[in-house]
Amino acid sequence: MVVDLGAQYAQLIARRVREAHVYSEIVPHDTSIDELRVRRPAGIILSGGPASVYEAGGPRVDPAVFELGVPVLGICYGHQLMAQALGGEVEATGQREYGATSLMLSDRGPGVLLADLPARDTVWMSHGDAVTREPDGFRVTAATDQIPIAAMEDPSRGLYAVQFHPEVSHTAHGQAVMKRFLYDGCDLLPDWTPTNIIDEQVGRIREQVGDAQVLCALSGGVDSAVAALLVHRAVGDQLTCVFVDHGLNREGEPDQVEETFARHFRIPLVHVKAADRFLARLAGVADPEVKRKTIGEEFIRVFEEVARERSDAGFLVQGTLYPDVIESGSKTAANIKSHHNVGGLPEDIAFDLVEPLRDLFKDEVRAVGAELGLPEEIVGRQPFPGPGLAVRIVGEVNAENLTKVRGADAVVREEITRAGLDRTTWQAFCVLLADVQSVGVMGDGRTYENPVIVRAVTSEDAMTADWARLPDDVLDRIASRIVREVPGVNRVAYDITSKPPGTIEWE
Ligand code: XMP
Repeated sequence: MVVDLGAQYAQLIARRVREAHVYSEIVPHDTSIDELRVRRPAGIILSGGPASVYEAGGPRVDPAVFELGVPVLGICYGHQLMAQALGGEVEATGQREYGATSLMLSDRGPGVLLADLPARDTVWMSHGDAVTREPDGFRVTAATDQIPIAAMEDPSRGLYAVQFHPEVSHTAHGQAVMKRFLYDGCDLLPDWTPTNIIDEQVGRIREQVGDAQVLCALSGGVDSAVAALLVHRAVGDQLTCVFVDHGLNREGEPDQVEETFARHFRIPLVHVKAADRFLARLAGVADPEVKRKTIGEEFIRVFEEVARERSDAGFLVQGTLYPDVIESGSKTAANIKSHHNVGGLPEDIAFDLVEPLRDLFKDEVRAVGAELGLPEEIVGRQPFPGPGLAVRIVGEVNAENLTKVRGADAVVREEITRAGLDRTTWQAFCVLLADVQSVGVMGDGRTYENPVIVRAVTSEDAMTADWARLPDDVLDRIASRIVREVPGVNRVAYDITSKPPGTIEWE
């Protein structure tokens, strides 16, 4: 159980635990000790956080957490809270340690937690205060040039703490530290695997659904596909999939969905070809939020019609992921974009929701999909916004603009795949600036056409992202192919904005 002490690291810590094949959940820092006890965690990790232990109002944990008899790992701020609560000393040294730092193991041995680390190793630090005296019973296992207590532990009480961040990739052996805590500190087995996840979910779905009929809206993306397959594994032909083709998909996508679900898996599929309806509703709409709303509403209308025809269906499958669950639970998150998913169904259609991915992170969804036999083209597919290419046209969504952006997108995807960059690129796509024209020259003639922006980013979870350093020759091929092959586009630019301050999509 990861106690979130207020930084963005809690989600990363939970993911690292899962990567070690141990199930993890995040709880807010004000979760009461009784609730923690009731949930019977096998181990507790206190995350880092931006506060100082001296700050009034900074997040705290009940010191009783150290007496539950459950192993605890304190990270950064969690390390300091542990030291302070148990009688050690934390000082504001006035010196901030930030970034890659050299960690030196104690001459008296690395203890349990640091057992796999070399005598000197690189770790990631980010702190102002430092623990200057360990609590009674603790042994110091590592220091840096600036702080005497970079790691400490008392295995007899199951208490471990590190000042550095084992969860970030800049800490060379961070995952080894996590594993020692989980496997040795908490005595856990690495048994959170795709096979076990599938078995558990299939059991749960059967129990929830019984012999009722189930509907699932497929989007073409990996989440709804994996959710559908899990439900199909559980209840077979009680599941009907609905693919609402809104005409805003990438090239080849509708056929691929049909091919995969109806032909390959033999799952009953209702393919609603509704492109004309959507385009009619979108005529003249250029504002991003109005686009999203319009598409969301029309989607519901189409889906409603299918659902009425199948009024015997009592359940609806949703591909909600764990990060969505965490985010919708946070009170402070600002609404940057109103994401459209198959949510918000009207109340007069009474469905119970089946959400088999609620506990999973994206990479786990992919692993489960692969295990269920979903082809790599879908498992490895990039995230794609619900409103589709509509939010990749800055300007009006019409058939002509869609053809341009779809053609350019296909080139980008092909070249990224050809260069073997699919796994390292989170998303790579095009944005059409439909209201902008620039002068070019092609053959002997002057052109006056639209530009497209190529956007490629690396990311772990889409919360933050960096622009991808694509090789020059890949960018070169993308640019020349787009101008050559996509009518109406005569210029290509590359977006080098990170998130923040940019977002991944342009709208
Ligand atoms: P932004 O643009 O907010 O995108 O940085 C973050 C991630 O979310 C995807 N995205 C959407 N997904 N409906 C979706 O289902 C939407 O309306 C939507 N808008 C953005 C985006 O592709 C990126 O992966």
